[in-house]
Amino acid sequence: MVTTPLLPSDYLDLVSPLRTGADLRGRIEAVHPETGDAATVVIRPGRGWRGHTAGQYVRIGVDVDGVRLWRAYSVTSPTDRQDGRITITVKAIPDGKVSTHLVRRAKPGTLIQLDQPTGDFVLPQAKPAKVLYLTAGSGITPVMGMLRDTEIDDAVMVHCAPQPQDVIFRNELHDLVADKKLRLTEWHTDTDGMLDIARLDELVPDWAERETWACGPAGLLDAAEEHWTEHAVPERLHTERFRPSIVVAGDGGEVTFSATGKTVDADGATPLLDIGEEAGVLMPSGCRMGICFGCVTPLRAGAVRDLRTGEITEAEPGVLIQTCVSAAAGPCDIER
Ligand SMILES: Cc1cc2nc3c(=O)[nH]c(=O)nc-3n(C[C@H](O)[C@H](O)[C@H](O)COP(=O)(O)OP(=O)(O)OC[C@H]3O[C@@H](n4cnc5c(N)ncnc54)[C@H](O)[C@@H]3O)c2cc1C
Ligand code: FES
Repeated sequence: MVTTPLLPSDYLDLVSPLRTGADLRGRIEAVHPETGDAATVVIRPGRGWRGHTAGQYVRIGVDVDGVRLWRAYSVTSPTDRQDGRITITVKAIPDGKVSTHLVRRAKPGTLIQLDQPTGDFVLPQAKPAKVLYLTAGSGITPVMGMLRDTEIDDAVMVHCAPQPQDVIFRNELHDLVADKKLRLTEWHTDTDGMLDIARLDELVPDWAERETWACGPAGLLDAAEEHWTEHAVPERLHTERFRPSIVVAGDGGEVTFSATGKTVDADGATPLLDIGEEAGVLMPSGCRMGICFGCVTPLRAGAVRDLRTGEITEAEPGVLIQTCVSAAAGPCDIER
């Protein structure tokens, strides 16, 4: 009663936000530039942090201009880092709300929300003898987590970036090469053009025998999945996508957010999560690509289209939709 309307825990948060029992948080302790548009953020997680497996990602909630936004980032630090801190490495994308904030404006001392790490883009318990890492741009981050954590006897990496100076972790990669822990092909797309996946035959002649972890833009991963399937080794390819592959867009419609009392027009290609956030509706979210279910919301009326499959879901009592991969398919009412 004494502390109403705040709870005693709100006061404890002021004194000891990372204590055991508090919602899991982290404190940004440093931000180190990596390239012109990427930076590594050093985070001290609170006491409830359970630790990660190399290659996994963590969802973080960051306040940007007074709005709490959640995004997923791969953990780039090794699992046995002695000081208990973790790192994520973020590439600022043009108009990207969270990535630009973290790379250009985040300050040491800032508290962020954290989730426990998750994801199955990890090495198996029994280390494979021969590995290929196929990465592009910021897709190098989960693989860097693996390279820093686990030594593989025969590891090859093909990494694509526009120019040498855009290669995140370039010095560290070259140190691994000098120590004979990695063989590396840098593919500079500004001069070499986009990587044609068929070129792997020259770059890594035994690619089909290698257990492969691939992370990068949809074009590269789609081509890799096709290539590995054509050569009858799809089970050797493990991929991580940072964005959903949107295959089908429809007509859109008027979207009502009934709890907030807002109605806006939406096209048939933009996820309802983005539509809601643009309209100032408080929308829960996580990975923003259909894997974490952090955005599920009841559909009260109308229909939505799954942007990955084109499948239509119509409102029925109890129907939940993932707003990050659903777009309006005609007028609809979302319970937010
Ligand atoms: C499992 C997982 C792991 C991830 N790990 C990392 C990581 O280690 N490092 C990292 O930098 N990012 C990573 N991401 C991507 C990250 O979660 C965000 O999507 C990214 O930082 C963009 O967020 P934003 O708020 O800046 O952009 P938004 O404000 O959400 O979007 C701005 C514009 O950019 C487009 N956009 C959104 N995401 C991307 C993208 N990834 N590439 C190109 N355009 C995009 C949007 O469609 C929109 O037009 C990961 C994503 C997932 C799902
Ligand atoms: S935000 Fe992760 S499934 Fe929608």
